[in-house]
Amino acid sequence: MNDSLRQNIVGIDTQVPTLDGGFKQYIFLDNAASTPTFQQVLSCINDFMPWYSGVHRGVGLKSKIATDIFDLSRKIIADFVGADLEENVVVFGKNTTEVINKLSNRLGINENDIVITTSMEHHSNDLPWRQHKNLIHIETDEDGFLKIDHLKKTLEEYKGKIKLVAISGASNITGIINPIHDIARWCHNVGGKIFVDAAQLAPHRKINILPNDDSEHIDFIAFSAHKLYAPFGTGILIAPKTIFENGAPDIVGGGTVKSVSLDEVHWANVPEKEEAGSPNVVGAIACAKAISILENFGMENIAKHELDLLEYAYKKIQNIPKITLYGPTSNLRNKVGVITFNVDGMFHSHVAAILSYEGGIGVRNGCFCAQPYVKNLLNISKEEEKILTDEIISGNKSKIPGMVRASFGCYNNYEDIDIFVEMLTKIVRKEFNGEYIQEKETGNFILSSEQKNFETQNFFTHFEN
Ligand SMILES: Cc1ncc(COP(=O)(O)O)c(C=O)c1O
Repeated sequence: MNDSLRQNIVGIDTQVPTLDGGFKQYIFLDNAASTPTFQQVLSCINDFMPWYSGVHRGVGLKSKIATDIFDLSRKIIADFVGADLEENVVVFGKNTTEVINKLSNRLGINENDIVITTSMEHHSNDLPWRQHKNLIHIETDEDGFLKIDHLKKTLEEYKGKIKLVAISGASNITGIINPIHDIARWCHNVGGKIFVDAAQLAPHRKINILPNDDSEHIDFIAFSAHKLYAPFGTGILIAPKTIFENGAPDIVGGGTVKSVSLDEVHWANVPEKEEAGSPNVVGAIACAKAISILENFGMENIAKHELDLLEYAYKKIQNIPKITLYGPTSNLRNKVGVITFNVDGMFHSHVAAILSYEGGIGVRNGCFCAQPYVKNLLNISKEEEKILTDEIISGNKSKIPGMVRASFGCYNNYEDIDIFVEMLTKIVRKEFNGEYIQEKETGNFILSSEQKNFETQNFFTHFEN
């Protein structure tokens, strides 16, 4: 059903060397980190490159054409989430992290304002808000769900003082999808606004931020092109134009001004004001093209396919003994394609290393830049956390907490899951062949010295003389 997407994934048939001396087709299950791209995105960029030019500042034909396509990309991206560009603006940055920092710097949050975030956030939607004095973290329960009671109580308690609720659309750890429109309504009822970190939601679900005057409207939203099948370095922030009207941009320089003298600066209109320096034109165009491919296929179809994959995968994994799963494992409709787990008695990085070296399967392990959430799911007490932190900062990561994560993209299929489950079953049964040792400084498992001559070959020749 997703064959048309799968066939067009760049690198879908990449063969990788494995410890047994052979080659396997790489199974990529780390899509929550970053996705591969589509052939059509590469073609689109190739077709554009002869017309490539700096935008907005040149009068040559190439500059005009590049500017038109760049501006069209902004419109396609705005439409993707239902944003009306009369009232809102699409601001490009490097990634979600950068544009959340921008929002935190530019929102005009003052000493008395309350900012609410949650304990389930990626660090990128937590640390940027910590510069503000009154930051509250809403708790999560043992399955990783947001404690709605805590959120509602906090909203009520600080009614009239809440500037913003900054919350993820979907978790990169448990895949849990938060009820963002309900939260928007509750938040607006007490005079606050909502920001949704949609880095994990945008690749998996249709998003509609709704009109600005709708009580369930999402005021601010951010996501990354590299998680949307366009890994060319673009982050997107969509916000009401009005928030950027006052004050200087957080990064100043070329392109941000209408007029400069030695005594005065007059800032440009948005989005130019907020996009200092030359923008990543290719990144924006790639993002728009990837979005149009996803929309052509239908975000509803993607959601349905990923739900089928999740149900299939959980059914199989739950039959393997000695696996601890984190987050919800049933009622999967409100969860994106992320499965996190540990194998009893094995370190997370050991499992990930075997999957890679012996199975040719790419997953991720660790805390996935959401340490508070992962530690909570692992049930690590404050005392244990303190001991572990001391060890880590002294350079010993041999007990660093973590999990293994398999995350699906729209192009993964049942066969990918079968191969993954088969390898995982072998690992649980200790039917693996490598001798692995742990590096204290990184916590990673690597092959022992005798097996070290298994090296991935150098496949890349472009920089060879
Ligand atoms: C939920 C969430 N928010 C933010 C980010 C940060 O995205 P980026 O690395 O593109 O800045 C990630 C990345 O994994 C994420 O999963």
